[in-house]
Amino acid sequence: MKHELTPLPYEYNALEPYIDEQTMRIHHDKHHQTYVDKLNAALEPYAGLQKVPIETLLQSLNTIPEQSRNAVRNHGGGVLNHNQFWNIMKKDVPITHKMTEVINHAFGSFDVFKKQFTDASLNRFGSGWAWLVVSNGKLEIVSTANQDTPWSEGKHPILMIDIWEHAYYLKYQNKRAEYVENFFKVINWEEVERLYLEAVKK
Ligand SMILES: [Fe+2]
Repeated sequence: MKHELTPLPYEYNALEPYIDEQTMRIHHDKHHQTYVDKLNAALEPYAGLQKVPIETLLQSLNTIPEQSRNAVRNHGGGVLNHNQFWNIMKKDVPITHKMTEVINHAFGSFDVFKKQFTDASLNRFGSGWAWLVVSNGKLEIVSTANQDTPWSEGKHPILMIDIWEHAYYLKYQNKRAEYVENFFKVINWEEVERLYLEAVKK
């Protein structure tokens, strides 16, 4: 069974003007598709592994034969991270009461959380992701390089931003800070809350 590209849950222009249509088309149809294709190629020799959910593969990378491990890590991460990323974006979704409460409890205030998440995004050198995760029942901000995911460390991502240049360069060029600022206008807080509740139930 091959992995397939998950369709975007909205139109390509749904996040305009903060994330432009052309970026979404290239990001989803080309970059995300390439991760799917390369993950399938990496799993081609292993019929048994093709049925394993990507989260599970990334949580047990040591079980992947060594010659394919890096490819699964990079391309499997690329598939999973983008699947989650599309879902946690939507315009005009105000933060929920529940998420306000848990963010205030963990960080003191929304502004402190926003500053820490922004710093994690801006301080990640090169390509990668910044994340809000649930780790042992607690909220934590982390960043990863390349397509590495906190799933591999047993953490449960609930909000993430893609800080590869392919995510923003067409519109923002070198202005990563402006992209991160605008990302806060397209967070789907209802989905973030759903993921939070799922994470703390485990
Ligand atoms: Fe990306």
